[in-house]
Amino acid sequence: MTIQISSLSSIHEAARQFIDAMGDRRIFAFYGKMGAGKTTFVKAICEELGVTDVINSPTFSIVNEYIDGKGREIYHFDFYRLKRASEAFDIGFDDYAYSGALCLMEWPEIVEEILPEETVRVSITELEDGSREVTIGD
Ligand SMILES: Nc1ncnc2c1ncn2[C@@H]1O[C@H](COP(=O)(O)OP(=O)(O)OP(=O)(O)O)[C@@H](O)[C@H]1O
Ligand SMILES: [Mg+2]
Repeated sequence: MTIQISSLSSIHEAARQFIDAMGDRRIFAFYGKMGAGKTTFVKAICEELGVTDVINSPTFSIVNEYIDGKGREIYHFDFYRLKRASEAFDIGFDDYAYSGALCLMEWPEIVEEILPEETVRVSITELEDGSREVTIGD
């Protein structure tokens, strides 16, 4: 499935489409080049789910935790600064991943070998006109 984001003004609508497509799946890995729009889209998804905290990429902590509008936890990972998958393991990645909470991950390439089997792969691509294309699933 592909979701088009023509500009930032339609990102929340796109996030809503993404949420509708999630079903009961909980673990999402966002692939895409630097600047493709991973953080921006994760932020829009969290906002649509009712998160009111400030949503930024977890640059220092590797994982940020938010609470959605229904009081459920959401974990937002950014593995960019990790050198190996074992470092994610050390911060308790497995506990987060198997908690049943929604997990949204940037730069999952680095932890590929420890991603749960049920991980849904999502690709974000910037097109020539500056719009973004979000593709869910293989
Ligand atoms: N859908 C969009 N439409 C237009 N501009 C966008 C969109 N998504 C992101 N941008 C812009 O692109 C820039 C990079 O976005 P963002 O930080 O979300 O990318 P990223 O994929 O998380 O990058 P990184 O790999 O560094 O984590 C920001 O200036 C942002 O405003
Ligand atoms: Mg980012």
